[in-house]
Amino acid sequence: MSLIKIPGLIDVHVHLREPGATLKEDFYTGSRAAIAGGFTFIIDMPNNPTPTITLERLEEKVELAKKAICDIGFHFGTNGKNIEEFEKVKNNPHVFGLKIYCNHTTGEMLIEDLELIEKVFAGWDSNKPILVHAEGEQLKTALMMAEKYNRVLHVCHISQKSEVELVREAKKNLQKVTAGVCPHHLYFIKDAVLKMKGYAMMKPPLGSQQDIDALWTGLNDGTIDIVETDHAPHTREEKESEKPPFGVPGLETALGLMYKAVYDGKIQEEDVIKFLYTNPKKIFNIPEQVDTYIELDPTVPYIVGENGYETKCGWSPFEGMELYGKVQKVFLRGKEIL
Ligand code: NCD
Ligand code: ZN
Ligand code: ZN
Repeated sequence: MSLIKIPGLIDVHVHLREPGATLKEDFYTGSRAAIAGGFTFIIDMPNNPTPTITLERLEEKVELAKKAICDIGFHFGTNGKNIEEFEKVKNNPHVFGLKIYCNHTTGEMLIEDLELIEKVFAGWDSNKPILVHAEGEQLKTALMMAEKYNRVLHVCHISQKSEVELVREAKKNLQKVTAGVCPHHLYFIKDAVLKMKGYAMMKPPLGSQQDIDALWTGLNDGTIDIVETDHAPHTREEKESEKPPFGVPGLETALGLMYKAVYDGKIQEEDVIKFLYTNPKKIFNIPEQVDTYIELDPTVPYIVGENGYETKCGWSPFEGMELYGKVQKVFLRGKEIL
């Protein structure tokens, strides 16, 4: 094995479930999953059972997250009625963006009312991005608002061909719009739900082969800027229930899936660092992590799940798949932590 050294990776979209849903994950287990996957800096989402929509809840989260073994930042949340909190948190060094949910998903933070969405865009007067969970038509609204209020917009987990086209078009006029894609949308077709049932249910849902092709094209032509895992663990019991919650874990498999894409000729080797480090760092203005790097051999295959998982949920939708470049060593500020 001949190891290469690359920067500690950045995942700007994880759900570590604390406080309120620590049966699924917590900051310790989630950060162990991050490190196992080569991520040294992650940003946690606000859709907890008690959503992160006040300064007080943010401070509580920062405190709880001290048990994390990697670096961690937070996206603030909004239900459209906490605009007065924005002033209190927008310059907080722990906050990297504002998250808006325009579609049903895990948590109680949905905003459908156009007036409320507009209030949020008007109110978030900051260079830190507004992140949207918007599917299909909702994306048009978000792009329109970003233009109207001249806001920095990051479109989370794009999954449809039409969304890639919308972002590609928008980028012609808007300098400040970026987009992310999740590995599961790149690798699974919607029929996977027939076989994997609840384990393949997530928001946005899996797409068609056309959608998948458009996502790879979007990555290669600069329409899509980053790969974000949307690490969204749920217990096996929940996933096997009558009404499985949406979301899949992803921290431990994203890098291996990207090296598989290199091996399969879908992206270039230098793109791996671009999508998982350089671009996320630039878009979310993430501080330099000195002496922080990981070591791996991108030519050596491994099987997902062969040595178990660090995530508390203990499963992966990619189980059994052959990926490349398992992380062998992780150094955080010069200290070896894996
Ligand atoms: C996420 C979760 O479970 O928190 N679920 C998902 O299917 N992606 C929420 C989200 O990102 O929409
Ligand atoms: Zn989402
Ligand atoms: Zn998410």
